[in-house]
Amino acid sequence: MKFFIDTANLAQIKEAQELGILDGVTTNPSLMAKEGVVGKNNVLAHYKAICDIVDGDVSAEVISTDVQGMLREAEELCEIDPKIVIKIPIIADGIKAIKQLSAREIKTNCTLIFSSGQALLAAKAGATYVSPFIGRLDDISTEGLEIIEDIRAIFDNYGYTTEILAASIRGPMHIINCAKIGADVVTAPLSAITALLKHPLTDSGLAKFLEDAKKFNV
Ligand code: E4P
Repeated sequence: MKFFIDTANLAQIKEAQELGILDGVTTNPSLMAKEGVVGKNNVLAHYKAICDIVDGDVSAEVISTDVQGMLREAEELCEIDPKIVIKIPIIADGIKAIKQLSAREIKTNCTLIFSSGQALLAAKAGATYVSPFIGRLDDISTEGLEIIEDIRAIFDNYGYTTEILAASIRGPMHIINCAKIGADVVTAPLSAITALLKHPLTDSGLAKFLEDAKKFNV
């Protein structure tokens, strides 16, 4: 399973990259705004800074809602770096834009997916990734993981190569459950990724080993 980090924070992206397990980055306009990145030139420069840190795909989201605007933005974003993946919302114009970009072999990430039907349409249009938001479904008392299961079954039935990029991850159990179901990618905050490292028996076991090691170090 691929690990993406879901942030526009350069320090956190560097930390995940240094851990050696990072396969890519996803951003969205809210995450960019959270880092205080405003103005078109600053946004483009920030995407470049992210691309310079990581080896893998970097999703950059369009803010147009019409197909021509999306395609225009895609052109500009693609010029930043070959790692850029065009992130497009699942609306009718989004599907049209994905279809055109996929015909030109430009990678796309179809975002704001909340149903398996939406994911099916995005795959049919040729999206590279679909991003089902499981945490936001959990937030409204709906089992977010079920959508990952449904999309996995549908894509496997027809051999769609579109990758399931589980998004809106809230914690380590989301990551583990997505891996059990067979999501291709999870995009998670750094805290959810590093939480996978933690176990109290590891901490106490290591403390005991280090204590005992002092006996033969003297
Ligand atoms: C997906 O790519 C989005 O950036 C993200 O996962 C949304 O997560 P949130 O529900 O925590 O905002």
